[in-house]
Amino acid sequence: GIGYINGKYIGLNENAVPIEERGCQFGDGIYEVIRVYNGKPFMLDEHLARLLKSGNAIKLQIKQSMEEFRMLIKEAIAKSGLSNCCVYLQITRGISARNHLFPDVPVSISMTVKQIIPLPDSIREKGAAAIFHEDERWANCYIKSLNLLPNVLARQTAYEQGCFEAILVREGMVTEGTSSNVFIVKQGKVYTTPLSRNILAGITRMVVKRVSEVVNVQFIEQAFSKEDLVGADEVFITNTTSEIVPIVKVEGKKIGTGAPGEVTMKLYHKLQQFVA
Ligand code: PDD
Repeated sequence: GIGYINGKYIGLNENAVPIEERGCQFGDGIYEVIRVYNGKPFMLDEHLARLLKSGNAIKLQIKQSMEEFRMLIKEAIAKSGLSNCCVYLQITRGISARNHLFPDVPVSISMTVKQIIPLPDSIREKGAAAIFHEDERWANCYIKSLNLLPNVLARQTAYEQGCFEAILVREGMVTEGTSSNVFIVKQGKVYTTPLSRNILAGITRMVVKRVSEVVNVQFIEQAFSKEDLVGADEVFITNTTSEIVPIVKVEGKKIGTGAPGEVTMKLYHKLQQFVA
């Protein structure tokens, strides 16, 4: 893989970021993760639109246009020589002596392009386990912010309990995963949490909505509780890196038959045709 920072390509292990960088000191920035299939960044414009929306939301003064980001990402992918990989793009409020107030400096743009680490086949075949975890995040989770401490802590808690993901719950209702959107299937219909400030508008979520239409599965954006989830026929989560992952056990309780669901796998297989 390769790295990029403010106009320069570098090795992944090279020192690149000065100590007084807003991303490091304040988590004052935003990011995107973009999947590349066969050399082509998937849903690139959607990712860039979300990036600029996040930037606006935190008042980042981004001078670069969508087209410049598009060119930069394609250039980086070409330079990496990788065809099935992931682009991590980060923009921070720049480099300046530590002070909570916004500095008058250009934003810092950095990027990595790395080989995708594929999800083990066994997880897709057998399904994964999850826990519920209180959603302890802030009121603006629609922003893809660098501040991921509550996500990291919840995910680690899941891992320490032998689970793949923590499903976050706010006032009894499922919001999303620590790095994924959450879906349940009931009587052949797919339900997912409606978009609001409480969740990230996942790009894979958007793709699953389109895929559902193609395979004639009803896609309903409606809030659901922990109990709804435990009682569902199927549960799955989505994100850019793992696509669709069946969840077959939550808090030690089997979901449906305890095996990846029919609707889940149908959506997964159709999604593979979308990205090909
Ligand atoms: N995370 N919700 C949260 C909190 C996320 O961090 C992510 C993605 C998603 C799914 O979004 P998308 O389908 O656009 O990847 C939902 C990325 C992959 C990450 O942090 O690595």
